[in-house]
Amino acid sequence: MKLTVASVVALIAGSAIAAPAQVQKRACSSAVRLSGTENAFLNRKLHANSFYREEVNKAADAMSDSSLAAKARKVGDIGTFLWIDTISKIEITRPLIQDVPCEEIVGLVIYDLPGRDCAAKASNGELPVGAINRYKSEYIDPIKKMLQALPNTAFALVIEPDSLPNLVTNIDLTSCQQSKSGYEEGVAYALKELNLPNVVMYIDAGHGGWLGWNDNVKPGAEGLAKVYKAAGSPSQVRGIATNVAGWNAWSKTPGEFENSPDGQWNKAHDEKRYVELFGAALKTAGMPNHAIVDTGRNGVQGLREEWGHWCNVNGAGFGIRPSTDTGSTLTDAFVWVKPGGESDGTSDTSANRYDSFCGHSDAFKPSPEAGQWHQAYFEMLVKNANPAL
Ligand code: BGC
Repeated sequence: MKLTVASVVALIAGSAIAAPAQVQKRACSSAVRLSGTENAFLNRKLHANSFYREEVNKAADAMSDSSLAAKARKVGDIGTFLWIDTISKIEITRPLIQDVPCEEIVGLVIYDLPGRDCAAKASNGELPVGAINRYKSEYIDPIKKMLQALPNTAFALVIEPDSLPNLVTNIDLTSCQQSKSGYEEGVAYALKELNLPNVVMYIDAGHGGWLGWNDNVKPGAEGLAKVYKAAGSPSQVRGIATNVAGWNAWSKTPGEFENSPDGQWNKAHDEKRYVELFGAALKTAGMPNHAIVDTGRNGVQGLREEWGHWCNVNGAGFGIRPSTDTGSTLTDAFVWVKPGGESDGTSDTSANRYDSFCGHSDAFKPSPEAGQWHQAYFEMLVKNANPAL
């Protein structure tokens, strides 16, 4: 066919009409270079992984109320971290992180230390105290290989929720004493080995109601900084993750427990104040101090009887969507770390991992094992979402 100017114009116009309405987003064409000195969430959306999307879609399918189901389905499109909470979850994760669009960042939680969850029972893990070599060779090393094989994809890692904070406040427990050396060695190993150009790391720092107490801020910051330095001060560590699987408001004055009798001993009554306070202590201790804050389930306040209550809080709702619009220079992003709808722990008193916190009167009952899908709880989070879905 002889192409005249007119026919070329017609062809272009024709193909424009035929083109799909949505342009297919593509993976980056060259290696991603992140660094602890920059906010990797700027211009990158937190990836909405298909593991959580499937949980959410299945949950929506099971709902009889069609308007609730429509709201629920939206949750699958909201960026949420994926928890690598067992060795076998690595292979499940691998296909989920292929072909991630260049304008997105994948959030992964590293969560399998030996003697995991030393101060509670609900999330006790597969590796017993002492299994540090298995943690290194069967868990961290394969994750490293998996991330190295995807140099064109950006990753943000939350490192081992609750572990180092437990060593600060729960070291009177034999279980935490036994876990201590494995936690410190394990976290340092994770930071050192996962220090890859396409990765940024945030070490878990509990929340304002935990390390925010006057007596905990300095030892908490020093505890994290010690492990960061033991890892050789890795370049890809950006700072801390706060409120992971937590319930605290980002910003609320007075804070939920500010006027309680003990409130005077804590200056971090919301996560905004906690990031500032703990961030200053981290700086003094010699560790990077930027933060990401889990706002996944903190949409409703005033539900807990006590600040320390953490298990399936009844009445909760989804919170602020992932965003870099935090209004806080130290806070890189609001993120959803705990996948809302996955349980915090079982309420079955006869279960091995039953923790009394999951039996408190402010905890939703019945609830399945930690990490298992909790349909009724998910429906409640959707109904009570703030902002609404
Ligand atoms: C559980 C994990 C789960 C994570 C996210 C934790 O409480 O112990 O198994 O992956 O929550 O739901």
